[in-house]
Amino acid sequence: MATSKDYGLGEHTFPRGWFMIADSAKVDSKPQSLRFFGQDFALYRGASGRVVLLDAYCPHMGTHLACETTSFVVQDGRVEGDSIRCPYHGWRFNADGKCDDIPYSDAPIPRAAKVKSWPVEERLGGVFVWHDPEGGEPEWAAPDLPEWQDKSWVQWQFDDLGTLACHPQEIIDNIADCSHLGPLHGSTVQFFENEFRGHLAIQRQGGGHRTLVSADGKSAMLITDTVYHGPGVLLSHLTGMHDSIIFIAHTPIDDGVVHVWHALLVKAASGLPVANESDIVAARAYQQSALWSFAQDFGIWANKRPNLHGMYVSGDGPHRKARAWYKQFYNPRARKQEFLAEAEGVYSPQGMPGAPVAARGEMSLAAAVAAG
Ligand code: FES
Ligand SMILES: [Fe+2]
Repeated sequence: MATSKDYGLGEHTFPRGWFMIADSAKVDSKPQSLRFFGQDFALYRGASGRVVLLDAYCPHMGTHLACETTSFVVQDGRVEGDSIRCPYHGWRFNADGKCDDIPYSDAPIPRAAKVKSWPVEERLGGVFVWHDPEGGEPEWAAPDLPEWQDKSWVQWQFDDLGTLACHPQEIIDNIADCSHLGPLHGSTVQFFENEFRGHLAIQRQGGGHRTLVSADGKSAMLITDTVYHGPGVLLSHLTGMHDSIIFIAHTPIDDGVVHVWHALLVKAASGLPVANESDIVAARAYQQSALWSFAQDFGIWANKRPNLHGMYVSGDGPHRKARAWYKQFYNPRARKQEFLAEAEGVYSPQGMPGAPVAARGEMSLAAAVAAG
C-alpha cells in the first residue's frame, strides 16, 4: 500500500475538502465511533436534530466518548439535549465541544476541558465534514443538487461499499482515464474531454455503454458529465436510458485506505411531477446497474499495485494534469495557484474529439453553481 508521501502529493497526509462521513438516516442519539483522516471521532444526533461530530477522546482521562456501552452513563442516556456525557466519569460536552458539567466537582471547569467540534452539513442524504489540515473555513460549499428536492426525481439510498485498501489517488485517476472506458465498462467513446478549473475536475464523455444503455454498447448513446467537487465527492449527470445523477464519495480513513459510498438519483420514468411506486422500483434497479458498472472500477482498485510512475501513451487521458489538480488539496491554500497554473484548462486525448458545444458547459455549470 502506498502513502500520500509515496505519490508526492504534498505537505499534508490527508486532503482539504468536504467529505462524506455517514448516511444521515443512520445517525441518531446513539453515538457512533468513526475513524477518518487518521483520527477517531464520536458522531451523534442531538435532541434538536443537529448532527454533532466531536474528537473522540475525553480530555479528562482519555476515554472514547462513543465506544463504551455498559456504563450507567450510557444506560441512563449519554446524549442530553445536543450534549454528550463521557461514559467514564460523566463529564458533559456540548455540541461545540466545551465541557459544561462535571457532575461531582464544584471547582470551575478548566478552560482546556474541551474537544474539537467539526463543521458538518447534512446534504443529499449524507453527513459531510469540512476537513482542512490548516484549520481554515470551507473554501467552497458542501455538495448539493437542485434535483434532490425535486419530487419528479427518486431520491437515492446509499450503497455503502465500506473500506477499500487503496490510496484515493488511484480513484481520482479515473476522472482522466479515457482509455479504460471501452475495455472495462464496454463503452464506445465518441467524445471525451477533461476540464480542470479551481476545485472542480470535469469529464465530459459520450458514447455507447453496455451496462447502462444497450447491450451491444453501440445502438444508444450515453452522455456523462462528471464533476469532482473537490477531492472527495463526484457527481455525474447521465443522459441515456434514464436521466440520472451518480454520486460517489470516498473519504480517507488512514493513509492509503478509504471508505466508499455510491448512489444514483433518477428522474421518474413516468414523467409525473411526483415519482410513483413504479418509478421507485425502476430507479432502484437502475442504481443496481450503475453500481454494477462502478464495481468494475472497484474491483480494479481493490487489487492493483500503486501506480506511482504511470507509463502513459498517446490515447491515454491527461493523467498528469489530473494529478497536478489533485495536489492543490494536499498543500497549503496559499500554494494553490502553483498547482492550478499547471492543471487548469481543457484537454482531450490524442485523436479523440472533445465534447460538442451542446454537451459542454451547461450541465457542468449547473452542477458547479449548485455545489458552489
Ligand atoms: S475520562 Fe471522560 S470523564 Fe473521565
Ligand atoms: Fe470507470
